[in-house]
Amino acid sequence: MIAESCCASYLYSSAALIISAYLLRLFIQGPFYKKTNRIDGKVVIVTGCNTGIGKQTALELAKRGGIVYMACRDSAKCEEARQEVIEKSKNEQVYNKVLDLNSLQSVRDFAESFLKEQSTLDILINNAGIMAAPKTYTTDGFESHIGVNHFGHFLLTNLLLDALKKSESGRIVVVSSLAYIAGGISKSDINSDKSYNKVLAYAQSKLANILFAKQLTVQLKDTNIVVNSCHPGVVKTELIRHIVGIGIIQKAFTELFTSYFFKSVEAGAQTSLKLAIDPELSTSGNFYLDTFRVPLLPKANDMGMAEWLWNKSEQMTGLKED
Ligand SMILES: *[C@@H]1O[C@H](CO)[C@@H](O)[C@H](O)[C@H]1NC(C)=O
Repeated sequence: MIAESCCASYLYSSAALIISAYLLRLFIQGPFYKKTNRIDGKVVIVTGCNTGIGKQTALELAKRGGIVYMACRDSAKCEEARQEVIEKSKNEQVYNKVLDLNSLQSVRDFAESFLKEQSTLDILINNAGIMAAPKTYTTDGFESHIGVNHFGHFLLTNLLLDALKKSESGRIVVVSSLAYIAGGISKSDINSDKSYNKVLAYAQSKLANILFAKQLTVQLKDTNIVVNSCHPGVVKTELIRHIVGIGIIQKAFTELFTSYFFKSVEAGAQTSLKLAIDPELSTSGNFYLDTFRVPLLPKANDMGMAEWLWNKSEQMTGLKED
């Protein structure tokens, strides 16, 4: 009798543990976009999509019938990813076009080349980004985080606005991050010339992404374009492997840890996917996490700062002269 109750309680606690671990994992993954709506014939651009969330987003949109332009810096890696997307989606209308957000000239060349092929753009996903890199500068002399994550996408989006306005229901998705919380826009040193901290530089660029989406919302209020920003989640990407662990034990542990505690790329792409194609989404200027709209801190709702950043970005990228 005693033995039996001991084993039963052992069994119950093991079962409870397994179920809790499973539920926690489901919670980490977050909800998936479940609607099956297709986007046949719609033209899509995804930046930074030769790997990770970007590649997954391109794949999901290709599966639903989109004409997908994969915009990446490295043409060879992009081609490899493109072949994979075509194979998995059975959609041949997937293209590889070089876009190096480190260079405003490359952004201009990309836009010009794209607009020669398509007059309408339905969905733009500003996904590319660098995170917590050592201090480097872009070709145009911008600190790399603000340069690639914000200025490059600022120019790209503006050069494509006329094509987006031609769409019946244009969408712009700005992939930002909750890391914005750690950041501020430095009006006197946006380029981090005076002082540099890789985490703060990253956070500043992610706050800039949100403020950009906010100001775009003001500029586009009389159009059919819906623009929102999001936090994709902490996703298990190849990057992690380069950061932690040299030994085989460390590697195995890291693999186990990240596989459980980080989102899969499939899960990480869900919020972008919803913002890009959910037919019921009609409001702009909001921030989403795990496919849910969440409130922002006052600094990310500061429209004075959003306008200042817009003006500064116009000046820095030379957009005014266009
Ligand atoms: C931004 O530029 C516009 C037009 O040039 C100007 O009217 C506005 O005051 C500027 N806003 C800020 C915050 O600098």
